Amino acid sequence: MKRFDIITIFPDIFSGFVKESLISKAIHKRLISVRAHYLRKWTTDKHQTVDGKPYGGGPGLVMRVDPIAKAVASLRRLNLRSRRGSTSAVRVILFSPRGKQFDQVTAKRWLKYDRLIFICGRYEGVDERVADYIADEVVSVGPYVLNGGEVAAMVVIESVARLVPGFMHDSDSQSKEDHAQYTKPEVVKIGGKNRTVPSVLLSGDHAKIAVWRSKNRKS
Ligand code: 6GU
Repeated sequence: MKRFDIITIFPDIFSGFVKESLISKAIHKRLISVRAHYLRKWTTDKHQTVDGKPYGGGPGLVMRVDPIAKAVASLRRLNLRSRRGSTSAVRVILFSPRGKQFDQVTAKRWLKYDRLIFICGRYEGVDERVADYIADEVVSVGPYVLNGGEVAAMVVIESVARLVPGFMHDSDSQSKEDHAQYTKPEVVKIGGKNRTVPSVLLSGDHAKIAVWRSKNRKS
């Protein structure tokens, strides 16, 4: 069982994500667990403040470090134990457009942790002490700017979860999208033109098909 804990001010963003598709099946099969935690739970003031003006001035608001520190400490204290009685391996990740770009190698590396705690930044940024003293890693999901880390968290959960043994119906699906693929119909009219399937794929010659696929790999 791999557990994902998400610290966010928009926990509802994740409700559809966990209720639909293969993610919900993996949750039912107890391969993974996904919990979204409302950051404001860890505030102490009446207005449940999670942000403030940047020191040194400037526009916008910065997310405060103190509620995030409490949230991470409290989730770490859950200290879920594995069946063998050892403490579980936990990794704390901050999502930020300033982080190291997430990739498939990172997804595979994170498979070794029992629990991933994700901190979703919002507003114009997060107090740098979160990156320096709370998170083990700071990651971005690409060279563009999002409003916050929530969509990034879903990207990462999906890419890590599908590597968990048992997630896929068959192991072949692990390489899905690696090369161009076609299915019925053999001929289809698109914009007035007949568009066909590469004839080698209909040939039944598996050696030729393998060569064609290796030449038509993506990325
Ligand atoms: Cl993780 N967060 C935000 N706000 N923007 C991003 C990102 C993360 N990754 C790419 N752009």
